[in-house]
Order: sequence, then C-alpha cells, then structure tokens
Amino acid sequence: MFKHTPTYIPFNPKSRTLSHSMMVYNKPSYDSVVQDWADSYLSDPNHLLICGSTGCGKSVTENTLLYYSFLRGDSKYIFIDIKKVELFQYKNIAPCRYYANDNLGVNEALTIALDIMDSRYARMMQEGIKTYKGENLFIVIDEVADLLQGENKKNFYSKLLKIAQLGRAAKVFLIVCTQNSKRDLLKDIKNNFGTVIGLHTLDATASRNLIGSSGCELLTIGRGLMLTNTIRNITINKVDDRLIRELLTTL
Ligand SMILES: Nc1ncnc2c1ncn2[C@@H]1O[C@H](COP(=O)(O)OP(=O)(O)OP(=O)(O)O)[C@@H](O)[C@H]1O
Ligand SMILES: [Mg+2]
Repeated sequence: MFKHTPTYIPFNPKSRTLSHSMMVYNKPSYDSVVQDWADSYLSDPNHLLICGSTGCGKSVTENTLLYYSFLRGDSKYIFIDIKKVELFQYKNIAPCRYYANDNLGVNEALTIALDIMDSRYARMMQEGIKTYKGENLFIVIDEVADLLQGENKKNFYSKLLKIAQLGRAAKVFLIVCTQNSKRDLLKDIKNNFGTVIGLHTLDATASRNLIGSSGCELLTIGRGLMLTNTIRNITINKVDDRLIRELLTTL
C-alpha cells in the first residue's frame, strides 16, 4: 500500500508510560490509509490526547479525525474552542450538542457532558449492563491548557478528571489537543488517555513529557508525521477545506 520507504526513528524501550511504536512514513500516504486509521480509532474509541509544539498540526489531525467521524454519522459532539476559530465551523451542525468558546460556556459544556454521562450510568445500572449501548459523545477540546491554566482551572480540572475516569463505559470520550509540555498540566487526567498521538516537539524532553518517550523531536513539522501508542503510525493528510464545507452542509 505504501510506495515510500518507511523511516525508523529511535525509541526508548525503558519508557514505562507508553510503548510507542517506531515506524513513521516519511512521504504523504493515501487518503484510504488515513480513513483506515481514523476508522480504527472511531470503531473502538477511547480518550485521545494529541500533542506537540505550536504549529505542528494538532488542529489538522483533530479536524481530520472529525471529518471521518462525521462521515460515519454515529456520534454527537461537544466542542470547546477557546481560540474561537478552530472549531467554529461545527457550531451549527446537527450532531453538535454544545459549542463553547468562553469560560462560562466551557463550564456549561462540561456540566452538560457530566449530566449526559450520569444519566447514561443510571440507565446502565437499570439495565444491568457495563457499557452504554448508544452513540458516542466526543468532547473535543482544541487547547486544554487554556482551561487548565485559566481562572476556573480547579473547577475545570475536576470535571475533566471525572469524565476521563468514568466516561469510557458511558461512551463519553475526550479528544484533547495540547502544545503545553509541562509535566504537571494534566496531572491524573493524563493516565486515562488510551490513545496518545505525538506530533513534532521542540526537543526530547518535551516529547518525553508529552508522550512518555523521546522521538517526537525528530518528526518533521506540519506534515502529519506522528507517533502513537496504539494505532498504526501514518502520515495524516489534511482534508481539503472545500470537502469539509461540503460535508457540513449535509449534516
Ligand atoms: N497533515 C498535514 N498536512 C498538510 N499540512 C499540514 C498538516 N499538518 C499541519 N499542516 C500545516 O501546518 C499548519 C499548522 O497546523 P495546525 O494549525 O494544525 O497546528 P497546531 O499544532 O494546531 O498549531 P497551534 O499550536 O498553533 O494550535 C496548517 O495550517 C497546515 O498548513
Ligand atoms: Mg491548533
């Protein structure tokens, strides 16, 4: 399927937190490969952390995943967009449960997410089942540091932690981007990400803090090259903005 020779990058086997696989592809691959990758995540989603330095392609990766998720049509979304422009285009689509771009809105968005989660748990207990049978709810947060360093940080942290700890069985999943490589930013939330994608970082220390191993510092910036702990490593090609707009009109 791949025409180009894969590049192998160093991997630290002593890393205790994650076992990132070693292979990245150094040339753009085919969209079918990207769709495959997205589908493999979306057919069995978990909390997802996308990290890397500024301008490395976090939002592109996030939007690519959303594109394929919209195509599947089996999920609802809450968008948290403090930068106000990254996720704005999804504000009025039918599967959007809530769109927030300021502190008040974020509080409301997380409260709605927790309410949905709690009511799903109530139903699960009533039916005696361990996993909610229904659609996914993705909580998409473009830059989580904006929440965890702002004035409401304690409140947001505790809400996010609860979702991170309990969301999975209720099919409430976080899709979170961050460029902030400070070790203590996500604290206990971090242990709950089943999938971690590392894009380019400035140095090996930032890579270790974000994904638990070095390697991201060697990735080319802005080309979709990534390291992941679970899914296959591929090159994410940016979905054409026109295609996204066309799809959004049908939702
Ligand atoms: N997979 C890709 N294919 C093509 N272009 C890409 C890809 N990833 C990133 N780019 C290019 O890099 C630019 C920056 O990407 P993006 O906005 O996703 O970065 P970011 O990590 O979200 O940055 P920030 O930290 O500022 O939010 C894009 O506008 C695009 O031009
Ligand atoms: Mg971004």
